[in-house]
Amino acid sequence: MMAWVFGAKPSAGGWHVKRKQWSLLQGAVLACCLSAHAETGPAVDMVMPTPSSVVAGKGVFRLGAGLTVAIAGRSSSERLERGVLRATKRLEDKTGIPLPRQIAANTDASVVVSAEKDGAPVQGVDEDESYTLTVTSSFIHVSAATTAGALHGLETLIQLVQAQGSGYVVPALTVKDTPRFPWRGLMIDCSRHFEPLDVLKRNIDGMAAVKLNVFHWHLIDDQGFRIESKLHPKLTGAGSDGLFYTQEEARELVRYARDRGIRVVPEFEMPGHSSAWLVAYPELASETLPRGIRREFGISDVSLDPTREETYTFINSFLQEMTTLFPDRYMHIGGDETPAPDWKTNERILAFKAAHQMKDNDALQAYFNQRVLAILTKLDRRMVGWDEILNPALPKDVVVQSWRGEASLAKGAQQGYQGVLSAPYYLDAMKPAGQMYLADPVPAETTLNAAQQKLILGGEVTMWAEQLDSRTIDSRIWPRTAAIAERFWSAQNVRDIDSMYQRLAPVSVELEALGLHHLSNGDAMLRSLAGSEEIGPLQTVAQAFEPVSFGERYNQQRTSQLTPLTNFVDAVRPDPPAKHALEIAAAIVAGDPKGRKEEGRDAREELRSFFADIAEAVPEARGIAVTNPRLTPMLPRIDLLSRLTKTGTEALQYLQSGEAPAGWKVMALATIDEAKRPSQSVRYILSAPLLTLVNATH
Ligand code: ACM
Repeated sequence: MMAWVFGAKPSAGGWHVKRKQWSLLQGAVLACCLSAHAETGPAVDMVMPTPSSVVAGKGVFRLGAGLTVAIAGRSSSERLERGVLRATKRLEDKTGIPLPRQIAANTDASVVVSAEKDGAPVQGVDEDESYTLTVTSSFIHVSAATTAGALHGLETLIQLVQAQGSGYVVPALTVKDTPRFPWRGLMIDCSRHFEPLDVLKRNIDGMAAVKLNVFHWHLIDDQGFRIESKLHPKLTGAGSDGLFYTQEEARELVRYARDRGIRVVPEFEMPGHSSAWLVAYPELASETLPRGIRREFGISDVSLDPTREETYTFINSFLQEMTTLFPDRYMHIGGDETPAPDWKTNERILAFKAAHQMKDNDALQAYFNQRVLAILTKLDRRMVGWDEILNPALPKDVVVQSWRGEASLAKGAQQGYQGVLSAPYYLDAMKPAGQMYLADPVPAETTLNAAQQKLILGGEVTMWAEQLDSRTIDSRIWPRTAAIAERFWSAQNVRDIDSMYQRLAPVSVELEALGLHHLSNGDAMLRSLAGSEEIGPLQTVAQAFEPVSFGERYNQQRTSQLTPLTNFVDAVRPDPPAKHALEIAAAIVAGDPKGRKEEGRDAREELRSFFADIAEAVPEARGIAVTNPRLTPMLPRIDLLSRLTKTGTEALQYLQSGEAPAGWKVMALATIDEAKRPSQSVRYILSAPLLTLVNATH
């Protein structure tokens, strides 16, 4: 079952810790996955997200220089043509075979793509995204009801291209595929740190590659107002540090996303998280005013004033202007975290509450939401809000995005509200992909009835940006988001974590080929930290760490918008590939301490060489850290790493001999405990596997 971890023997390039060998880990995983099918042909089960149905055929389609691509069917929209040409270029990149830059005129082409229609002019939640991919030894057909479906089919095709012998093939098969949920999103917070348009574009490319279809654009928060308003230019003039998207850029991004079958849902935070509005227009405030753009994070006391007509006049004009940029049927109004102490103390607001028989702030916020909902309805838009908007005063056609827990999603559905789940998919919590992967918007044990389940539109991954910038965002989003994308697209029973990690490794590499920087940016940061290209030992050491959660880093560093994000923690990435592999290996060794089976012996050898490689790298990494002040605070952590790997090596010895010296276990557990102490906002990926090993000793 776990054989893939050791699919290649160490001598053939297992998952040792040295950098060059890390890439071999991914290679080994893929090679193993492919070689497992050596007798039956190339792999058909490597697609992520897993399709609804795959039926293997006979033989393979060989990619070659003569390949031609045509579009058939009733629709040949320019959007589909652009999508087909992009896919052709990616096939060329992946195979190194020069492929045509035009679409062939005849339908005898080797690759034929067809869509019945382009789809709705503004893609909605009811867009038919299904597709069929048929591959034989002589042709490839992608057919779909809409352009969006055809684009998904092309992504599946690209993933299926694999090396065989001296060339590249696609296995003969028929894929019939349709998403489980219609709302599969990624939210990016562009307020806390501004993300240049190119960064968003490459992330939208990544979304398309794993069949996500909603880009939720968090444009406003306390730390910055990021969208140009021509009617109210002070919003960005005073509230953005000059870092905002022009209207033309917003339109460009919407077009870019639509070209890839992705909707753009903008979020305009109100009435809380509104410092950036109020820096520009203090007359909209309840009472408390921000002192400039808010640099610190957390919940602020400022809020828009829900009691004054001028507030709604302003919101109306602003949202109306925004409809000219954002055609999507849905607009997100935030609505979260509004303690609004002014609403409990300000005489005017208290009088308003009394006159309207409002017993508390929740009632006043529900009133505010009703007023904004009326504006949105007149603008032909539907309201989305974080789960604080859930209030019986609101009609059932608002969508509730659950972030405070899965319970609020179910509660909303029981009351008849549509919902989108985000609570388990907070990337800044730095949880492993496997954990987020198992969280399901509608789990098998749901107590919702069939009608209520239908109200769950899907889920959204959230990338809050307090502690990242354009250099680190990709590594926080990818590849973990690809695993969650599978949860949103694939059947409920697709839940094998090992299979997921096995497929995630090559997907991660494909995402980098597509333009994402999640693998390369960490190295660039290490070079900058070391002031040198000679970072081998530092890379080895870095890969034993991952960042702690947003909350832990906040507690350790009190990060603000002005905190430099160029430290060691910014160079390491969450859930690095070795983490899951180490945990599996430790579990195997704990279950077979004397290495009676080959798998147990292999696991022991892999762990032994992992520990040895790190131990070998530590002195040089130390040397680099000693001479570079940005790294010197890491010295105690690097030193402790030495002790951890020593503990691991000893644990392996004592497991094999069957006996640890008296007192050793207590000391080993104390070392592991010491490693858990917060420091430098990083944690060791070794802690869990070491605990498994040490606990198995006697
Ligand atoms: C949120 O995380 N405050 C929506």
